[in-house]
Amino acid sequence: MRINPSILSADFSDMANQLASIASADMVHVDVMDSHFVPNLTFGLPVVNNWKKVSPLDFDVHLMIDDPDHWAPRYAEESEMVTFHIESAKQPEKIIEKIREMGKRVGIALKPNTPIDPYRELIPNLDQVLVMTVEPGFGGQKFMIEVLPKIRQARELIDSENPSCYLQVDGGINLETIDMAKEAGADTFVAGSAVFDGIDPAKAIEGLRARLNG
Ligand code: DX5
Ligand code: ZN
Repeated sequence: MRINPSILSADFSDMANQLASIASADMVHVDVMDSHFVPNLTFGLPVVNNWKKVSPLDFDVHLMIDDPDHWAPRYAEESEMVTFHIESAKQPEKIIEKIREMGKRVGIALKPNTPIDPYRELIPNLDQVLVMTVEPGFGGQKFMIEVLPKIRQARELIDSENPSCYLQVDGGINLETIDMAKEAGADTFVAGSAVFDGIDPAKAIEGLRARLNG
C-alpha cells in the first residue's frame, strides 16, 4: 500500500520545505495541467525538474495535458514514473515503449467516464493504472463512488495480466473514503487536500496509513 501526496495542494512558494514535510510518503504525486486537456493550468517541465532536485522522494508525474506523445518521455528524463491520460494519447503503445526503454515507470490514467476494458492489452506493459475518482482539473473535490466498479474491474484485469502493476486512485481520497478505494482493490493512494490542507502533512500521511493498516 502506497500513499503519494499530491503537491497540487501544497504551498508553491515554499516547495523545498513542503517536499521535506512529506518525506514519510512513498512518492510525490505531481499534477501537470495545461489548460487544454483540463480547465486549469499548473506548472511545466522546468518547474518539475527543479523541484525534483530538492525532493527526498521519487516523482509520480500525472500528466493532464494534450500531446502526451511528445511530452511524456520528456518528463521521464528526470522523473521516476510518468502517467499520461489515455484520452489524449495518439499512440499509447509507443509512449509506453519509449519510457520503458528509458528504464522509467509508465502508467495510463482514466477519467471517471473512460472504460478500462478497451485498454486491457496495454496492461502487461504498464507499471501503473490510475483510475480518477474525480473529474481531473482541481483538488478538493468529492470522491465519486460510482467509479468503484471500475476500480474492481481494474483490480481483476491487473491480477490476471500483470500483478506487479500499481492500481492508483486519485481524487477525493481522505480518512472517510480511503477504505472504500482499498476494498475495491486500489494499492496506491493519491491525497492532496487531505495531506496539505491541515497543519501537519506528516501526521496526515500517518493517519491515512493507519487507516489502511487498521
Ligand atoms: C486532480 C488531481 C489530483 C488532485 C487530488 O485533477 O489529479 O491529484 O490533486 O486532490 P484531492 O486529494 O484534494 O482530491
Ligand atoms: Zn493527480
